[in-house]
Amino acid sequence: MVNNREKRARCPLPPGPRPFPVVGNVMSVNSKEPWVTYTNWGKTYGPLVYSRLFSKDIIVINSEKIAKDILDRRSSVFSDRPTLTTIDLFGWTWNVAFMPYGERWRQCRRLFHQTFRPEAALTYRPVQMLKSMSSSIIMAVAYGYDTAPRHDALVKIVEDTLNLAIGVVTPEKAALLGAFPFLLRLPYWLPGAGFQKKAQESRQVSKEQVDAPYRHVTQNLTSNSLLPCICSDLLGRMKDGGNVEYHENLVKDVAATAFNAASETTSSAMLIFTLAMLQNPKVQAKAQAEIDAIVGRDRLPEFSDRASLPYIDAVLRETLRWHPVVPLGIAHAATNDDIYEGYYIPKGATVMANLWAMSHDESIYPNPYEFKPERFLSNGKLVDDVVSYAFGFGRRVCIGRHVADASLWAGIASVLSVFNIRKAVDDLGKEVEFQVEWTSGLTTHPLLFPCVIEPRSLEMTPQRLAEMIAVHG
Ligand code: HEM
Repeated sequence: MVNNREKRARCPLPPGPRPFPVVGNVMSVNSKEPWVTYTNWGKTYGPLVYSRLFSKDIIVINSEKIAKDILDRRSSVFSDRPTLTTIDLFGWTWNVAFMPYGERWRQCRRLFHQTFRPEAALTYRPVQMLKSMSSSIIMAVAYGYDTAPRHDALVKIVEDTLNLAIGVVTPEKAALLGAFPFLLRLPYWLPGAGFQKKAQESRQVSKEQVDAPYRHVTQNLTSNSLLPCICSDLLGRMKDGGNVEYHENLVKDVAATAFNAASETTSSAMLIFTLAMLQNPKVQAKAQAEIDAIVGRDRLPEFSDRASLPYIDAVLRETLRWHPVVPLGIAHAATNDDIYEGYYIPKGATVMANLWAMSHDESIYPNPYEFKPERFLSNGKLVDDVVSYAFGFGRRVCIGRHVADASLWAGIASVLSVFNIRKAVDDLGKEVEFQVEWTSGLTTHPLLFPCVIEPRSLEMTPQRLAEMIAVHG
């Protein structure tokens, strides 16, 4: 039998930067934007890069083709998740996206599939057209809960859960903590123990994020006021004679994951779209002209208009490409040794698909930092590239991609049809210039920036808008 060392001797690891003793390559990784470091490594070492974060083997895939070869075609080996210390510590073990590849993940994924497969996702379209904000869409879809327009208590819980943990549930942060576990043993009161305090707070709100909205469902299950939702649907599907508590816990985890995954990603993408419109007024005008020509000004765009609005779809694709919301996807892990094109991938390695590198590949997207929806059109028709890599690969591919696509389309088309997004002006009428700052972590979006979102016409009063939305219902 050939052991690991022999395999290593026969096949080299993929090329990569030389690791330093103990720390590996950790010091060379840009802690705010690791995807930029990995993209630069790709330019030096090629599309498959090996590096080490402390003692952890890290394989970075910088090309869509290789990601498909490895994560799609060899999904029996590459569907696990790495163990991240921060998941346990911040109380996110219920999150299906980070579960190890195994029976519980499979059961959750099956439940997800029942509600998020393309045909089933159609059920939620009326809600998507009615609701403007991503949190309220998913609150309705997951829990049949109608959120308050502002300061909703349950939305606040999910925001807190995400704010506390989204920056640390990454391989880079987890590797750091794994290497210095004493940080976790510092007494709470000691200066510098902020991290531990944050983790404790996170564990509490995270549990509340799972339990509180679910309580709403169980309390209203028999009342007519509960909208059709994932929880009621999945609870209704429970087989007679099954273990009720076990099934309920699965449903809880699935709904909480959907809520958590959907609200962060969809709202980030809408913020990125808003920024892109602000910076590219010509694109905005062109998109609005398409809507005016096909839909007119008297009603909002509907899903049945989608095929006649190719430029809007091109704007959506360019939004996903220009600044991927989850730039490094969610890391996969190898459950076995493997060899790809003569390179050795060790069992247990963390395997990251660098979506940022794929979406900024100049050979596919010339001038990748420009926001140009036209790159997705040829002779007025949409090209085949649907930016599918933005939703990851293989058996762990984003389960909410059809719902996300529909929510984003509804959001983008509705906003463009009714509002103008433009730069804010100061008291002297001068445009307010600003430097865009981005959040960092598993997901990324621009921090708040000054802008004006105003109705496109004076007739568009709040009352008129409410009437147009009501027609959709
Ligand atoms: C713009 C919107 C979204 C983007 C860009 C996005 C992106 C991603 C990516 C890159 C992954 C990792 C895939 C991989 O491991 O290779 C993922 C996983 C996942 N996404 Fe999304 N997502 C979005 C919206 C949603 C929505 C609306 C939902 C839920 C309803 C959702 C639920 C999930 C779940 C559950 C996983 C984990 C799947 C697993 O580990 O088996 N996502 N998503």
